[in-house]
Amino acid sequence: MKYLVTGGAGFIGSTLIKQLLKKHNNIVINIDKLGYASNLDSLKSVESNPKYYFEKTDICNERNLSKIFKKHEPDRIIHLAAESHVDRSIDAPAVFIQNNIIGTYVLLNQSYKYFQEIKNSKRKKFLFHHVSTDEVYGSLTLDDTPFDENNRYEPSSPYSASKASSDHLVRSWNQTFKLPTIITNCSNNYGPYQFPEKLIPLTIYKAVNLQNIPIYGKGDQIRDWLYVEDHAEALIKVNLKGNDGETYNIGGNCEMTNLDIVEHICFELDKLRPINDKYINKHSDLITFVKDRPGHDYRYAMNIDKIKNKIGWKPKVKFEVGINKTIKWYLKNLNWYENNQNYKGERLGLIK
Ligand code: NAD
Ligand code: TYD
Repeated sequence: MKYLVTGGAGFIGSTLIKQLLKKHNNIVINIDKLGYASNLDSLKSVESNPKYYFEKTDICNERNLSKIFKKHEPDRIIHLAAESHVDRSIDAPAVFIQNNIIGTYVLLNQSYKYFQEIKNSKRKKFLFHHVSTDEVYGSLTLDDTPFDENNRYEPSSPYSASKASSDHLVRSWNQTFKLPTIITNCSNNYGPYQFPEKLIPLTIYKAVNLQNIPIYGKGDQIRDWLYVEDHAEALIKVNLKGNDGETYNIGGNCEMTNLDIVEHICFELDKLRPINDKYINKHSDLITFVKDRPGHDYRYAMNIDKIKNKIGWKPKVKFEVGINKTIKWYLKNLNWYENNQNYKGERLGLIK
């Protein structure tokens, strides 16, 4: 199969591309604008693979997309390109409207034009697979049952609202134009190559540099965590076995509070990299409670019965194993993100 993957130089996209090429022997065209969170280093192990192509473009650029469709004639699209960080969406919502909503619209439009032009045999294979988030469903209380695919959409942040909008656009292209589509909504991912503005890699970097580790509010918010390789595997399985027009939830069955996550990382780091400092004894001494995020969702949890029963996928990697691998990877690759010319270290204070 020939896949066109958008956002393939990001965290999840690069993991997906490596699996598509190495485990499943597909052809992959990666299109990415190379924004602040991208890093082509994450694709070093496949860059000379003759089945891998990279096209630098913004998905909002209609002309470029049209040329790419004509040049590569993909069988299927997996759409991950998006601005992905909630805090940035609070600082600068317009960027999210542009990339996540307009970007998805332009890509859908070009995909539909292409879909109408291709031969019947190729049209039968075609699929627009949209990668989305559990955050579109809003927030749960402790007593609520986990989100299922029929949950109403109640996004809280400009990020989740922009993803919700893009999900609706995809659904409407399916209903109105009969473009074959699938939407997957996934919980929080973690693993190597995640840009260090998200909770887990940020905690590792701050701890290693003996800087304060910021926890919003009381740290009692709950997220469901999934190892990124498991997410990539789920995407490939749903892509091949899912039904046109349907949505599938993907999750890790691993609900933890933010404080538990950060304390776990600190505990692991104490063993892997003991502190030798006059004032700080252990990494958890760096934990600092800071002002809460506005509109902060309290709890996310996913009901994954549908993907288990209909697709035959469930998460494999236990949190203790995945987080240990992740921490060890960051300890070995502390400077990987600095190679990105689009990142100036502005938000995080990580570049000295
Ligand atoms: P990321 O920020 O690491 O990577 C996103 C990539 O998309 C970057 O390489 C960026 O350059 C590219 N991109 C953004 N806008 C673009 C545009 N207009 N044109 C071309 N490229 C563009 O994000 P990620 O964590 O890998 O997330 C990938 C997708 O998965 C997103 O759609 C996100 O909403 C979704 N998702 C993420 C998580 C998570 O925990 N990270 C969970 C569920 C769903
Ligand atoms: P994040 O990794 O930004 O993912 P999302 O907001 O998409 O779930 O944040 C995960 C949780 O960690 C979220 O509840 C916000 C919290 N958080 C902190 O407490 N401190 C931080 O510095 C960051 C980045 C996040």
